[in-house]
Amino acid sequence: MGTATDLSPDQLPSGWTDGAGEYDTWFAPVTRGFAADAVELLGLGPGSRFLDVAAGTGALALAAAATGASVVATDFAPGMVALLAERFADAGVDGSVARMDGQALDLPDASFDAAASLFGLIFFPDMAAGVRELLRVVRPGGRVLVGAWHRSGFSLPFAVMRALRTAVPGLRPPQEEPVPFRLGDRAGLESLLTEAGLRDVRVEVATHVAEVADPAAMFRAVPLWAAPLKPVFDALSPEQLDRAAFAFAEQITAGGDPVGRLPGTALLGVGVR
Ligand SMILES: C[S@@+](CC[C@H](N)C(=O)[O-])C[C@H]1O[C@@H](n2cnc3c(N)ncnc32)[C@H](O)[C@@H]1O
Repeated sequence: MGTATDLSPDQLPSGWTDGAGEYDTWFAPVTRGFAADAVELLGLGPGSRFLDVAAGTGALALAAAATGASVVATDFAPGMVALLAERFADAGVDGSVARMDGQALDLPDASFDAAASLFGLIFFPDMAAGVRELLRVVRPGGRVLVGAWHRSGFSLPFAVMRALRTAVPGLRPPQEEPVPFRLGDRAGLESLLTEAGLRDVRVEVATHVAEVADPAAMFRAVPLWAAPLKPVFDALSPEQLDRAAFAFAEQITAGGDPVGRLPGTALLGVGVR
């Protein structure tokens, strides 16, 4: 596992905590369709004991709770955990929220029927440790799911970079391969799950199109929840930011409709302990 100095900002709690509210407004809607797929693949229902790791503001945890499952939701960022706790209270969820690093869960062995990490484990410095922990806390015969963005099928980061380049021609991305794309191909996800000891592993490919009510406002909020891009946005003049926000909105809207559409393709890997 890397030290704080060689980790990317989105691998540290500080990269996620202050922007939890903006994440919930702008990005949680992008993950909700995949959360519904995950609930189905895990076969959750009344009485299931479910663990959500790196739960963010709870797209998956809340969808799981809506089936009647009892849910424990964990995340390492204090801002995310605080918002999660509010969401659990508002929805009257049967379950609890706790702050934990997904690579070392403070939970007993074999205590859940299913466990998952949707677009969360992909940030762990040690992704294999994250899968081993999911497997450890699930009972024999229980299911484990890991959701990852498809390396070339997730339009948002590409649209953001293209928009930034209209303001700063030739701009290089802050990372050649963004951290969340490390698990962006089917074979990589399948072998991670199999090597951890899961059986009957399969990887489903799912696509959802998220609607964005105010694309320019979404663009301006990007650095608040996509920490590696913060220095890039901070270096823009107000005119460059306006130009880039306009270009982003133009890219994701069509035919005079002010509502933007962002397609995303994800890999949902599931296996049995
Ligand atoms: C893109 S968000 C995904 C949140 C949620 N699962 C969803 O689908 O909307 C990534 C989340 O992973 C959390 N995270 C990243 N590394 C973590 C770690 N090592 N342990 C626990 N949580 C972590 C972040 O705090 C953030 O809430």
